[in-house]
Amino acid sequence: MDKNNISIVILAAGKGSRMKSTKAKVLHPISGKEMLYHIIKTSKEISNDISVVVAHQKDDVIKAMQKYFDDINFITQDADNFPGTGGAMKNISPKNEKVLVLNGDMPLITPDALKGFLDIDSDIIMSIFELDNPNGYGRVIIENNQVLSIVEQKDASEDELKVKTVNAGIYAFSKNVIDKYIPLLSNENAQKEYYLTDVISMAKKDGLKITPLLVDEEKFKGVNSKKDLSDAEVIMQDKIKTNWMDKGVTMQLPSTIYIEDGVKFEGECIVENGCKITGDSIIKDSHIKSGTIIEDSHIINSDIGPLAHIRPASIIEDTHIGNFVEVKKSHLKGVKAGHLSYLGDASIDEGTNVGAGTITCNYDGKNKYKTIIGKNVFIGSDTQLVAPVTVEDDVMIAAGTTLTSTTVKKGSLALTRVKLRIVKDFYYKFFGK
Ligand code: UD1
Ligand code: CA
Repeated sequence: MDKNNISIVILAAGKGSRMKSTKAKVLHPISGKEMLYHIIKTSKEISNDISVVVAHQKDDVIKAMQKYFDDINFITQDADNFPGTGGAMKNISPKNEKVLVLNGDMPLITPDALKGFLDIDSDIIMSIFELDNPNGYGRVIIENNQVLSIVEQKDASEDELKVKTVNAGIYAFSKNVIDKYIPLLSNENAQKEYYLTDVISMAKKDGLKITPLLVDEEKFKGVNSKKDLSDAEVIMQDKIKTNWMDKGVTMQLPSTIYIEDGVKFEGECIVENGCKITGDSIIKDSHIKSGTIIEDSHIINSDIGPLAHIRPASIIEDTHIGNFVEVKKSHLKGVKAGHLSYLGDASIDEGTNVGAGTITCNYDGKNKYKTIIGKNVFIGSDTQLVAPVTVEDDVMIAAGTTLTSTTVKKGSLALTRVKLRIVKDFYYKFFGK
């Protein structure tokens, strides 16, 4: 496929009022990335000339996409004077003869699903599907196998409302169709908007070739409401998890597992039920047990959980992390931390055992400080490491010790304990017999 043959225009300027949100519709995330990100990513597989039409919250939309892409043309719609999907097409100037128009609220489209639009030679190719419940979609009026027009739901007659062939909302136009018909659109309709769909009836009257293309409803699903958003999330998650299972990841009850778009697995991994893995995490040759959350971290040759929380920027290698352990921005290599700990801003080296209840006190209310722990250290239960703390190799820390801003030298024992007192029969003196 030659990416220089086709231009893509993505419409992303609408308010998305049915989402009932202050956030622009196309910025709502699916599997950790904005809806618009997904459609741009797909578009880049088939074209080098991509324009995104923006208006509503345009600064936020542009900023969010510039995090990922540096070669997108953003075009501003004059939405006050020319509202609607036709108005959105007014200022575009695509480079190529063939122009694919996509909607920013269709995050499930795959490059494969767009191939049909590239292979057919026609003035207009329009996407359709058949629905038992066509509610909300533009109805496609077909007579003698010829598409005559698209009628929006709000403008449709009783008879037209019964039509079950609907406009999926994406099109391939030849450039001269756009140049000729977009300036001729009018807003004389129920919504007082310039409808891109009106191009169809105008082109038909002039005898142009209009080809309907039957597309997969699931892939061309438009997200208009929070319910649509959750439906699309289920479909996207299924796609992501199926891909990783195909590549050899074992998943227990995959329907209970959430894995974001940027996560990667390598080698042989097991993910148990109820886990959430986000950001750009990399999981290699590891076992992630039930109910564990891993955010933007690298896990290599380790077992984590059940019920552990690995927060961003952690690197965990050759390590065992047990239940109720929270790790943040720490590097653990060859460590055992079996139970109930907080390890933040720490680096812990090989052969070290972290006892239950060990806490790095990394924050003094103003700043964060580091805890550095060497090799073969035995950290007794209920140790507090008030950072900055350095513990050299081969150190033993007695249970219940508080280390405050200090360095413990190689081979030492560290212990802070008050002497045990036993006061005989104190209980009975206090409460009575
Ligand atoms: C549109 C179609 C409808 C089709 C449906 C399929 C029109 C008039 N109607 O309706 O026939 O069945 O898609 O999903 O085209 N947008 C702008 N500027 C605007 C308005 C919208 O850029 O002024 C963008 C939106 O951000 C969105 C896309 O265009 O990404 C579609 O807009 P939306 O309001 O969702 O159109 P529908 O009512 O779904
Ligand atoms: Ca829509």
